[in-house]
Amino acid sequence: MALGAEWGVSWPGSHGGCKEQEGQRQGGQGTPTWGLPRARKKLLWRLILSALGLLGLYGYGHPMLRYLEAFIPMGICPTDIMPLLRDNFTGDLRHWARPEVLTCTSWGAPIIWDDTFDPDVAQQEARRQNLTIGLTVFAVGRYLEKYLKQFLETAEQHFMVGQRVVYYIFTERPEAVPHVAMGVGRQLRVERVVRERRWQDVSMARMRTLHEALGGRLGRETDYVFCLDVDQHFVGHFGPEALSDLVAQLHAWHYRWPRWLLPYERNARSAAALFSGEGDFYYHAAVFGGSVAALRQLTAHCVLGLQQDQERGIEALWHDESHLNKFFWLHKPTKLLSPEFCWAQEIGWRTEIHHPRLLWAPKEYALVRD
Ligand SMILES: *[C@@H]1O[C@H](CO)[C@@H](O)[C@H](O)[C@H]1NC(C)=O
Ligand SMILES: *[C@@H]1O[C@H](CO)[C@@H](O)[C@H](O)[C@H]1NC(C)=O
Repeated sequence: MALGAEWGVSWPGSHGGCKEQEGQRQGGQGTPTWGLPRARKKLLWRLILSALGLLGLYGYGHPMLRYLEAFIPMGICPTDIMPLLRDNFTGDLRHWARPEVLTCTSWGAPIIWDDTFDPDVAQQEARRQNLTIGLTVFAVGRYLEKYLKQFLETAEQHFMVGQRVVYYIFTERPEAVPHVAMGVGRQLRVERVVRERRWQDVSMARMRTLHEALGGRLGRETDYVFCLDVDQHFVGHFGPEALSDLVAQLHAWHYRWPRWLLPYERNARSAAALFSGEGDFYYHAAVFGGSVAALRQLTAHCVLGLQQDQERGIEALWHDESHLNKFFWLHKPTKLLSPEFCWAQEIGWRTEIHHPRLLWAPKEYALVRD
């Protein structure tokens, strides 16, 4: 706690030092931080962030905005809870290796950054448990030709190398799946799905398909599963350090944003709605994972929410991602992956991003979404 208070960024799980609760928790005012009284500092952040928010409205992703964003503090993990954080796969985490970033959440889940874990320990632990790890990916429409080959080839080089892996490719054209040589103990299954007409429906049908697969063969033959988007590729080691009961990915575009600016669904009629003061982080639907049982629960929640919205004739702001964020608010993930695990090069250079594991492909919606 001492460290947190000293920096005026207090409790992790926050996206900045400007939330009301923090002020209240720490007695509201009088704590001099960076030479400013807390209340004054809060106002300053409000102004800066409001300006950022307005700028964001005018030019989402503007380089200048991205540059300023790097100065929003992330918060740090309180020193007294650091020793309490143990991980089933990595053992003790080396929080001290990354003092500049948030390495735990307020509910005691680790946030995995490069250098905070020993990949060899995780590797041995996963072997000892004799795990089979599933990787699901949807390759429908033009996404198949454009991304699947590179996705699979790079996954063979970097995803859970040395473990038993089963890929599940969901596609409407199984015959078009490219041949990629599989390493020892790794196999590929192709499952046929019906092609939805609109890409919004594709993203929604995904949750239903996953739920059914987890209740079937995928669920029987794997212990942990990662569900990934296909329009990205691996560029670095993505191993068992990422495994846990319920794993969420911090969204590369939003991990420094204050909570009230995050693009949650705000329409109260939607099942995905999060109200002011709700939400911990903004999670990316391009990467989520966990045990089979946890993912069954996650997909069931999202399917139900999506159905309810459809019956009301509404669609959440970011479709299945909005529902995923609602789920993670209600059921806290047991591990968070830093944005290093799924990075977007368009954001530009950031000191805290050491070794990206997955990189998004530049978005070419016009080409792939019709
Ligand atoms: C490890 O798991 C595989 C597949 O689930 C199984 O065939 C094998 O017998 C297991 N090995 C041990 C030592 O339990
Ligand atoms: C750690 O392992 C235990 C026993 O296998 C399990 O019950 C628990 O859920 C695991 N914790 C996480 C965070 O995955």
